[in-house]
Amino acid sequence: MTIRANTKRYEVTPDLETGHDLIDSEHRMLFDAINDLMDACSSGQGRKKIGETADFLADYVDKHFADEEDLQRKNHYPHYPAHHDFHVNYKEKIRELADAIREDGPSVKRLGEINSQASVLINHIRHEDKRLAAYLRNGTE
Ligand SMILES: [Fe+2]
Repeated sequence: MTIRANTKRYEVTPDLETGHDLIDSEHRMLFDAINDLMDACSSGQGRKKIGETADFLADYVDKHFADEEDLQRKNHYPHYPAHHDFHVNYKEKIRELADAIREDGPSVKRLGEINSQASVLINHIRHEDKRLAAYLRNGTE
């Protein structure tokens, strides 16, 4: 079975840019990892790559969220509790997905789940991370 990529590429387009260098660069790392997986799928290497990518995402999401949460705590961000709750949940989902791929092996279904988690993250970036970055920039809401 070949895992075929969809044609969508993940990009930090202007509407997804928070304007905070660290946050944006970490978002790019996450998107690049998923794009690399899609490229691997296009060249028939998806099965090999999917587990590695899921493990990378699980680790890097941990690091990235910890960095965002540090910024929030240091700057007394008022929406920390809700933002943190989202992070906790999302980390758990990604970790479960990486574990499932390790246990059951690669499949189209799991690739689809990576794509849907990417959409969830994009939505979070568009609303919550942009709101956070605006707060960090202005010192207020
Ligand atoms: Fe976030």
